[in-house]
Amino acid sequence: MARITAGIATSHVPAIGAAIDLGKTGEEYWKPLFAGYDWVKQYQAREKPDVVVLVYNDHASAFDMKIIPTFAIGCADEYAVADEGWGPRPVPPVKGHADLAWHIAQCCILDEFDLTIINEMAVDHGLTVPMSLMFGEPRAWPVKVVPIAVNVVTYPPPTGNRCWLLGEAIARAVESFPEDLNVQIWGTGGMSHQLQGPRAGLINKDWDRAFLDRLTGDPEALRHMPHIEYLREAGSEGIELVMWLIMRGALGPRARELHRHYHVPASNTAVGHLVLEPAGKEKP
Ligand code: DHB
Ligand code: FE
Repeated sequence: MARITAGIATSHVPAIGAAIDLGKTGEEYWKPLFAGYDWVKQYQAREKPDVVVLVYNDHASAFDMKIIPTFAIGCADEYAVADEGWGPRPVPPVKGHADLAWHIAQCCILDEFDLTIINEMAVDHGLTVPMSLMFGEPRAWPVKVVPIAVNVVTYPPPTGNRCWLLGEAIARAVESFPEDLNVQIWGTGGMSHQLQGPRAGLINKDWDRAFLDRLTGDPEALRHMPHIEYLREAGSEGIELVMWLIMRGALGPRARELHRHYHVPASNTAVGHLVLEPAGKEKP
């Protein structure tokens, strides 16, 4: 049977991708940011996940104002790397796991979560930057990916509680997939940042750190946090954090924190990273 063995959270920032691709990770500005991801690269080398259910948001690369799915699932065998204005990032193409993706789509839709099925989609920094942070610069990505794209760009995004419940439904779906697969679920985007308007550049370290604490130990309250609190406290793009609740919901009520990293700044963004395991996961 497939099983969810870990939940991983990380921010995404296009400049992080550019720093990797242009060989700047050793520069003073970037060193402390990347140092916080050494631990997870070793963890991944040990854990060897087969598939990642990668919850992320598209930034007008695959979708635009014509089509705005609240929740979409990629069911393709492969995803092209999007050109976000400077040419596609020089990273390997992202391989899908079509069988697992279709199984999750079927289970979730019959479980009353109406995911939009996507058979062709380019993936942008929202997906590829977390891949680079978790796996470095391999010639081919060591995992297959089931992308779950969430609308957090155009109001209204889904509620935290809806995200949590979708996470639970994804976990039920994964656990009913007959193949023996080591599956991780990632929640990406955030933490505090605002790219626009008079408050552009907003960072709220205290609020971010409290969010990290609550996500691990007291997620119940986060399920019901209204959108306005994300916007007020974490800036307009801080709403990306609502996606982390899909990951957290998939782990069940109790989770164990294995690793945490928090760093400011990366471009305009506060970067947060957590590695969680579901309580009760058996250690070899
Ligand atoms: C930045 C952050 C984002 O989440 C994003 O999607 C684009 C840019 C930034 O900090 O520059
Ligand atoms: Fe973003």
